Amino acid sequence: MQTKLKGKDFITTQDWTVEEIETIIALAEELKLAKATGRKTPWLDAKTLYMIFFDSSTRTRNSFETGITQLGGHGIFLSPDKMQISHGENARDTANVLSRYGDAIAVRHCALGEGNPYIRDLAEHADIPVISMQCDIYHPCQILADYLTIKEKFSGRTKGLKLGVAWTSAPNYVRPLSVPQSLILMMPRMGIDVTLAYPPEFKLMPEIEEQARANACAAGSSFEITDNFEDAFEDADMVIPKSWGPLMTTTDTPEGLSLIEKYPSWRCDAEKMALAKDHCLYMHPLPADRGREVTNEVIDGPNSVVYDEAENRLHVQKALMALTM
Ligand code: CP
Repeated sequence: MQTKLKGKDFITTQDWTVEEIETIIALAEELKLAKATGRKTPWLDAKTLYMIFFDSSTRTRNSFETGITQLGGHGIFLSPDKMQISHGENARDTANVLSRYGDAIAVRHCALGEGNPYIRDLAEHADIPVISMQCDIYHPCQILADYLTIKEKFSGRTKGLKLGVAWTSAPNYVRPLSVPQSLILMMPRMGIDVTLAYPPEFKLMPEIEEQARANACAAGSSFEITDNFEDAFEDADMVIPKSWGPLMTTTDTPEGLSLIEKYPSWRCDAEKMALAKDHCLYMHPLPADRGREVTNEVIDGPNSVVYDEAENRLHVQKALMALTM
């Protein structure tokens, strides 16, 4: 257990050791039990978390704001249009000023090529910890919640489990790469074997795929990429079928949406789940496009743990805030 984490930024799990990640998970388990048994945990009394949302959210905003309240502190919901960011104030000035007032800054900024540099810029100039609530490259809080969920469902025995991460066809908007990228980076480090499936146009960032390979090699786990949807399900212990945009192929939105329409059969249904182990968990960070990404039968079925995952966002983020703020 590594507890010297006050002031540490959380932008990608790559900046955290496995021991530090396991510390967050251990504290999340303690906080989950405390909440279930009505024990108060006012560990961040009178502390303030600034939450800057460049993009919309249901789970992230509510779990962070509820979490800081349950820890005895206060969350302030901010968006660029309500701040001087809309008039061009830069990250340096925002970071310095908020550091004079409060105790942590959390940011969601998913614009490709802008989100991660903005969060890194804030972190460079802030004297208080900066937490990524999702950027164009990473969604680290989601993957902490996913890992806690897997750990719970397999009684702590996660090493050697097979996780299938599969692209799915979902219309209407181009989703970021951050969830699959953070999954392939962190899960192999925790000893989980990962199979990543996508059609050729839906590659992830090459440097992230390379890092995932290196992580798996260092941890003695496996990481494979395939263009066959079924491979992600074959003999899997858990699957995360989830859409993302063809952003490494095109940044033109109409072209991206038409590429998504090219693969309507990339959808999670009972037939695909039957390829996996009987106990295989169906996971999704939500929001899911019901009917397109997944059938109701699967997402509402006995193997689905999507609400456990969503709940665990609260517990892991409370642990993260308690350790860093
Ligand atoms: N999973 C997730 O980040 O959900 P929101 O976009 O609703 O925050």
